[in-house]
Amino acid sequence: MRNLHNALLLKQLYQLKQLGYRYTDLSISNYSKSNLQLPSNMTELKSEAMECHLCQLSKSRNLVVFGEGDESADILFIGEAPNSAENDSGKPFIGRSGELLTNMIEKVLLIKRADVYISNIVKCHTPDSRTPKPTEAHTCLPFLLKQIESIDPKIIVTLGATAYHYLTGDDSDISKVRGTVQKLDNYSIVPTLHPSYLLRNPSAKRDVFSDMKLIKSLML
Ligand code: URA
Repeated sequence: MRNLHNALLLKQLYQLKQLGYRYTDLSISNYSKSNLQLPSNMTELKSEAMECHLCQLSKSRNLVVFGEGDESADILFIGEAPNSAENDSGKPFIGRSGELLTNMIEKVLLIKRADVYISNIVKCHTPDSRTPKPTEAHTCLPFLLKQIESIDPKIIVTLGATAYHYLTGDDSDISKVRGTVQKLDNYSIVPTLHPSYLLRNPSAKRDVFSDMKLIKSLML
């Protein structure tokens, strides 16, 4: 993925910042690719994520929620961050919003949840389920970009503004981009609303239903 190298570089700069560096004479060209690599193999990538202590979320997490599903799925769903139940189980989207997501997948897209892949922008639970901070999201993003590279899905569905924003770097309001197809490298990104938002605003289910129909049309 084109922006993986930049994401890895940004991760290293955030790490230096967390270590107290304010300025660096580091030039981008000084970073050899080998310094910036993560394993391409999903099992090794997962092991590396499981042992990650690169941001403060690692201090309060119980389990790293790496992601689950078919590792060669055509559709990848990306949420924001695991909630507290998921922090204890190690699985993404198992709570009420997970139930809604499963229904969207199985009852509208008519595919089994096990046949898609589900992951998050950050792999660790955030205290009080707050939105991940930019440092946390940028530090974790290379894991997700490597997952994308490895799964190589046809369609990436971003759930909510945080997932869309950090994956694409686009700050547009989610209400303006949802229901469209955005191209990122060779991937088709379909931004839609987050299931937790739907639980609070059931009338928005209509919009997500239409986004699911769009996804279905892309699957043909
Ligand atoms: N559970 C997840 O795994 N991600 C979310 O964004 C919300 C709940």
